[in-house]
Amino acid sequence: MERRTAVPMIVNGHETPVPTDARVSLLDFLREQLELYGTKKGCNQGACGACTVLVDGERVLSCLALAVQYEGREVTTIEGLAGDGVLHPLQQAFIDHDGFQCGYCTPGQICSAVGMVEELRRGVPSYVTRDLTAADVGFDETELRERMSGNLCRCGAYNGIVDAITDVYAEQRA
Ligand code: FES
Ligand code: FES
Repeated sequence: MERRTAVPMIVNGHETPVPTDARVSLLDFLREQLELYGTKKGCNQGACGACTVLVDGERVLSCLALAVQYEGREVTTIEGLAGDGVLHPLQQAFIDHDGFQCGYCTPGQICSAVGMVEELRRGVPSYVTRDLTAADVGFDETELRERMSGNLCRCGAYNGIVDAITDVYAEQRA
């Protein structure tokens, strides 16, 4: 039987062949084969959020995803968020608000926040959303903390993280 040709994945705007080994996680593919070390391996079991990347704009835990599942999909890592030497507004806001200490969780926090803002725009409710039928689900610190609760920070930089995301979200809504 003739084998079908794999459709390349698009990583940070570049076409990339998917791995031939179907057991390779998206996280290991990004780090070990593409040398994109910005995406971090924390727990490697879906509990910390350090490995969060964006797939077609939605946040995904890359340690729980198999790379071969993402043929033809657009994957964005922290390296792909900045453009032409200019930081993404959330990257800048994390610096301005001291949203990190060691920085290990930061790429995942920022990718997750980018995906979260898109979820808010689409009106996706969370566990704490009061009106599940509202087109605008609203945004406050409780929503933010709930929606970002999958991204842990062992340094406890949560206050700076919340301030950074709140600032950027408020600017984008203005
Ligand atoms: S490394 Fe993926 S969730 Fe922790
Ligand atoms: S800044 Fe160190 S784990 Fe978050």
